Amino acid sequence: MITVDNLQKSYRAGSGLRDHTQKHVLTDVSFHLNDGECLGIIGESGSGKSTLSRILLGLETFDGGNIWIDGMPHKKWIKQNKGKFSVVFQDYRTSVNPKWTVQQIIEEPLNILRSEKKIMPSMK
Ligand SMILES: Nc1ncnc2c1ncn2[C@@H]1O[C@H](COP(=O)(O)OP(=O)(O)OP(=O)(O)O)[C@@H](O)[C@H]1O
Ligand SMILES: [Mg+2]
Repeated sequence: MITVDNLQKSYRAGSGLRDHTQKHVLTDVSFHLNDGECLGIIGESGSGKSTLSRILLGLETFDGGNIWIDGMPHKKWIKQNKGKFSVVFQDYRTSVNPKWTVQQIIEEPLNILRSEKKIMPSMK
């Protein structure tokens, strides 16, 4: 279950040192997703789809609002559930090695997770 509540994200748009102009990319984004539901996010180029995804993955900070996953603050959930969240980035060529077979591509993260669990058995 994922709940996103009034999420806000701005990037610095000014070019000079004293230019603190902000570009508001996400303004009051809210949604609730139950287990087993699938959400498609549609919008024109530059509307913030990737920014929202990066925030959900914990790769980007946000300026305001809240995110909960399974009732837990999302930062804490991500820490405790390493390996349960994954992404295929827009440019798949930078995500996977095009010279590898599909089997090698799927095996790589599974092997990494397996070896991490051997080092840290407390991982789920
Ligand atoms: N790290 C950053 N620094 C400054 N501005 C950024 C940064 N990342 C994204 N932006 C700006 O935020 C806005 C939203 O970008 P984002 O990549 O989230 O859009 P998008 O909806 O995924 O677009 P597309 O459909 O082209 O993939 C754009 O104006 C972009 O230039
Ligand atoms: Mg994008």
